[in-house]
Amino acid sequence: MTPASVARSAAVASSRPRYLALCARHTEPLVAAELIALPEVTEVEVRTGAVAFSGPRAALYRANLYSRCASRVLRVLGDHPCGSPTDLYEAVRALPWEDFVTPEGTLAVSAIGEAPGLSNSMFTALKTKDAVVDRFRDRLGRRPDVDPQRPDLRINVQLYDGGKGPRCLLSLDSSDPPLYQRGYRQQGGPAPLKETLAAAIIAQTGEPALGSAPIAEAVHTALPNQQRPSAIVDLCCGSGTLLTEAGLSMLRVAPGLGRSFGFTRWRDFDAGLWRKLLAEAKAKVRAASEVFLYGSDIDPRALRSASQNLQAAGLYRYARLSRCDLRTAEPPSGQPGIVLCNPPYGERMGDERDLIDLYRGLGDTLKRRFSGYRAYVYTANLALARQIGLRPSARHVLWNGMLEGRLLRFDLY
Ligand SMILES: C[S@@+](CC[C@H](N)C(=O)[O-])C[C@H]1O[C@@H](n2cnc3c(N)ncnc32)[C@H](O)[C@@H]1O
Repeated sequence: MTPASVARSAAVASSRPRYLALCARHTEPLVAAELIALPEVTEVEVRTGAVAFSGPRAALYRANLYSRCASRVLRVLGDHPCGSPTDLYEAVRALPWEDFVTPEGTLAVSAIGEAPGLSNSMFTALKTKDAVVDRFRDRLGRRPDVDPQRPDLRINVQLYDGGKGPRCLLSLDSSDPPLYQRGYRQQGGPAPLKETLAAAIIAQTGEPALGSAPIAEAVHTALPNQQRPSAIVDLCCGSGTLLTEAGLSMLRVAPGLGRSFGFTRWRDFDAGLWRKLLAEAKAKVRAASEVFLYGSDIDPRALRSASQNLQAAGLYRYARLSRCDLRTAEPPSGQPGIVLCNPPYGERMGDERDLIDLYRGLGDTLKRRFSGYRAYVYTANLALARQIGLRPSARHVLWNGMLEGRLLRFDLY
């Protein structure tokens, strides 16, 4: 998100803690829908690259535990004019950092953006750290050490132009590490999708069968066990990110169940509340009665990493993986389901001429053998997408880092 948009969202005065769920551009409505579905989350506001919300601690904990599409959740502590390094120093020094970390704990500072005299992020981080430790020394005579890798408190500084002058937004990173690190990835494969982008693709489909629509129900009510999930087919599954995220979503597995979060290392951490929320999330997990995740790829190394990732995510028993060229792929037996795939698009792998042939082949496979399915193809190369030779019934922009990708839907009759 741009620092200016962070600013607008933080500017809302509220007696309740204000939070920012950061996310990729164009996924803000998906993140907002996830947050609105959570109990105790209030004042949800969509910004550019972020969704602001308020609520008690449970709202922050649940946002981290349940959001599939947000990249991290910040707790905003301050938003101040920042015309010089001294302004930053004073603003930081005035905030109650000792409420969140003890002098025996550790901290780190991440900084982005620019303000007068603060064009170097490392200098901004250093200035912020100095102000925090000076406050500790003055008040308590002792100060936390710096641990850039796994601090008890990661402070986030964003410098931005607030319209009427430069400002600094000071927050705590409650997710640390970022939320795409679910804990299941063992191996990446050659061009893996980020978990949060895969989750956004799935949510953007709006397919109830993928668990994307009823997130609210998943949080509020115990759904009956889904006995026969739809078949999900990825014809170029790579490391299996789409299959894994689809499986987790369909079985209502909260994406944060397999990892730790920054807020659990804060001084105000409520361990009893967190245990209760974890138990609540575990109680929602469903089991399926059969295999429903079908992945194939031409590259045996990709299949090995898919199998390791699916195993680590607890989904391997629901998966069938096979080595196959997508041009000769056959659908699994049974009812038609959903194809999800992210073919190579030339940025990181593949030669353009081969790719044209590959996309034509994908179109032929879908047309000839996957009738009755709905197919979702994510690619950042529209010229290649046209080679599929089918008219998409819907398209959405979803960014993959700096690449503008498209999610195309094809209804196959
Ligand atoms: C962009 S990657 C997919 C990444 C995957 N979504 C992930 O998250 O790991 C594209 C995949 O297409 C596979 N591929 C390339 N040509 C293929 C073909 N003819 N048939 C099947 N898979 C193919 C590659 O091996 C690669 O794993």
